[in-house]
Amino acid sequence: MKIGLLGLGTIGSGIYEHLQKRDDIEVVRILELLRHPGLEHLETSDFNEILNDPEIDTVIELIGGMEPAHSFTVQALKAGKNVVSANKLMLSHHMEEILTLARENGVHYRYDASVGGSIPFLYNLMRYRSADRLTSLSGIVNGTTNLILDVMQTEGRSFDDVLAKAQKLGYAEANPSSDIDGVDAQCKISIASAVAYQQYVRPEDVDTEGIRHIAAGDIIYFRRMGKVCRLIAQSALNPDGSVCAFVEPTLVASDATEAAVHMNNNTISVTGEYCGLHTFQGQGAGKDPTAFAVDLGLREILDGVSPRLNPIPQGYARVDNRQARHAYYLRISAHPGVPVEKLGDCEGGTAYVTEPMTVADMHALASALREKDARLFFAGIRE
Ligand code: HSE
Repeated sequence: MKIGLLGLGTIGSGIYEHLQKRDDIEVVRILELLRHPGLEHLETSDFNEILNDPEIDTVIELIGGMEPAHSFTVQALKAGKNVVSANKLMLSHHMEEILTLARENGVHYRYDASVGGSIPFLYNLMRYRSADRLTSLSGIVNGTTNLILDVMQTEGRSFDDVLAKAQKLGYAEANPSSDIDGVDAQCKISIASAVAYQQYVRPEDVDTEGIRHIAAGDIIYFRRMGKVCRLIAQSALNPDGSVCAFVEPTLVASDATEAAVHMNNNTISVTGEYCGLHTFQGQGAGKDPTAFAVDLGLREILDGVSPRLNPIPQGYARVDNRQARHAYYLRISAHPGVPVEKLGDCEGGTAYVTEPMTVADMHALASALREKDARLFFAGIRE
C-alpha cells in the first residue's frame, strides 16, 4: 500500500512514525506546508503531486477542518484512491456525499479514527448494525473536555489551566472552542448515529451545549447532590421512528460508569434489541491512540473489508428532542422564569434544579436566557 499523507501535525506525525514499523505500507508523499528535517524528499505543498501519482493508492487525510479537507477528499475518491480519515467535522457535514462517492468509485473511505480515538467503536458499530436493530448510543466522546471536567472536579484546578494542559498533550482541536462548546462531540454523535440507525443525522439538528461556563461554585453543588459532571453525547430511536440526539453536560451518580472515566478517556455505550447494552472504553484523543485508529482503517482496506459491512445510510433522520425529558441543574444570575427549586447562591448567580423538561425546551430556554446572562451554565441530571 502506497500512501499520500495529508498533514504532519500531531496525528500526522504519529501515523508517520507508526507506519515506519510496517513493511506492507509505505508513505511516499506528504502534503505539508512546513518542512521537517529528514522528510524534505517526501514533502510537497502541492496536493496535485499526490492526486496525480498513480503509485499512490491510499490517502490519509489528517489536515482536519472543512476546507481544503473536503475538496481534497472528493478529488482523491474520484481519482480512485482510498481515503482514511479522522476528520469528524468534515465527514459529519458531508457524510452522504463522501460515502456515496466512495461506493461509486469502488474505493474505501475509512473513518474509524473519527469517533472514540483508539477505541474500535465505529468498526464494531458497523458490524453490530448488520446483525441487530440498534436503538441508542450514549457516552463521553471528547477527551479534552473529559480531562478538563475530571481534573477540575478531582484536583480543583482551573478550567484554563487544564485546557492548556490538553492543548500541550495534543488532545484539543486546532481551535479548542470546538471541544469546549461541544461541537466536536456533536459531529461525533452525528456520525455514530448515522451508522447505528442508517439515517444521516445533521450535526445542526443535534441540540448542543458545552462546558465553557462551568465554574468552581457549580462543582460544590454537584458534590452535595452526589453527582459528577461529564459531557455526554447521546442519541436514540424514538417510538415514532424519529431520532433524539443531543450533547450536554450531564450530572451522573458518582458510581456511574461515566464517573469512572478519567483524563482523556472516552466511553461509548450502544444498545441493540438483541445484543443489549455494550460499553466500549479507552483513550479518546492524542497522537498514539489516534494513529492506532488510523492504522486500523488501513488494515481493514488491506484485509479487504466487505462494503456490506460499511452500509450507506438511507435518507435523513427527523430529529425530535421533545421526546427526551429530564430535570436540569441551572446556574444563572437572573430568575429563569420556569418552575425551579433553589439550591443556593454561588459565584455567578444562583443554582437551581428545574422540574423535568424536554431537551428541546431546555436548550431553547438556555438560548433565550443567554440574553440576560451569557455565562449561565446548565447540565442535565440523570436519575
Ligand atoms: N479534540 C478531540 C478530543 C480529539 O479531545 O476528543 C479526538 O477526536
